[in-house]
Amino acid sequence: MQSPPYRETDLPLSSKASLPEAFSWVFERISEPLSLVENALQDQVISRVKLVSAVGDHVLSAGGKRLRPALLLLAAELCGYTGPRRIGVAAAIELLHTATLIHDDVVDLASLRRGQPSANSVWGNRRAVLAGDFLYARASTMVLEDGDAQILELFAQAIQGMAEGELLQLECSFDMDVRESRYFEIIERKSAILLAGACEAGAILGGVTRAERKRLSAYGHSLGLAFQLKDDALDYDTTSSVLGKKRYADLAEGKVTLPLLLSLKRCSLGERELVSNALKKAASASPVPEESKVAPEGSEEVADIVRRHRGVEDTLVRAESHVARASEAIAAFPDGPAKQALVAAAAFAVARDR
Ligand code: IPE
Ligand code: IPE
Ligand code: MG
Ligand code: MG
Repeated sequence: MQSPPYRETDLPLSSKASLPEAFSWVFERISEPLSLVENALQDQVISRVKLVSAVGDHVLSAGGKRLRPALLLLAAELCGYTGPRRIGVAAAIELLHTATLIHDDVVDLASLRRGQPSANSVWGNRRAVLAGDFLYARASTMVLEDGDAQILELFAQAIQGMAEGELLQLECSFDMDVRESRYFEIIERKSAILLAGACEAGAILGGVTRAERKRLSAYGHSLGLAFQLKDDALDYDTTSSVLGKKRYADLAEGKVTLPLLLSLKRCSLGERELVSNALKKAASASPVPEESKVAPEGSEEVADIVRRHRGVEDTLVRAESHVARASEAIAAFPDGPAKQALVAAAAFAVARDR
């Protein structure tokens, strides 16, 4: 095994840092089923092949917000289901998410995840990809064990959509002229589909009508867009130690996200030139995760441009409008604690700081 390219003191605190106080009740009220989901996750990464367990354990024990299983549990509760099937399906969704993160960090050459060295930076790309494959397969087996064809269909659609989203993103990388509509197509696929699927799976467990299922899917979809908009805003607006991921990673990875896109529409020709040069530098930088510890040359200047043109603030205004849409989507459900928690979870997607 390669040793991680970090000294202990370089590591951010992040991944186990507490979530904003105002939202802790959302997770606390489902703490019991969530701890069962956690146990189920631990059971799933056991393999006779030690490397598989090591990679799975490394990524799972680093923490993570567990937002997708939380949403599934709350959606199921809103739809009247609190039985045992929710644990396995929620664990499967989180396992699928974990697999996508492992692969995402390979594709993005990312060196940090959940405040720890990413799997690819510890074990290399080849092993990380294969361990990710294993987790995809385990997650699929869990859904098969549940036996609901509709949930399986959602699962397959999410995997397909996420792969398309990541490929579309690669196609557009380092392109300053990428259209806003294309950006939304990407984040819809790479993030919103899985969050929508988690909520819809909860509704399926509740056996509700098709219309109610669609409402929960729409809720998850809007929450997912808000969530990724916030992710992209945080990339320009926080420190690695809070985020648990590298700051300015999107620029280094050539992702022209909404904060930058909005700023590019407003900036001077000189500023445009600066962004173009920073992207060119990032594109020609050596694609080795250990070396991507340093943000690409010109990152601070690009971040200044984003600040000057309110790229982050205006991205967050858009995110808030999707939060409002998420709440509207479930407005027709009777009021109660599960609905209140879902409304708060949508607000959390934007209020979070990691
Ligand atoms: C990261 O998801 C990938 C995105 C969709 C931005 P999360 O921010 O939910 O990651 P964890 O699970 O909490 O680490
Ligand atoms: C998020 O993409 C979507 C997936 C991980 C599939 P990002 O590349 O923006 O996520 P982070 O920032 O690495 O978590
Ligand atoms: Mg990434
Ligand atoms: Mg990101």
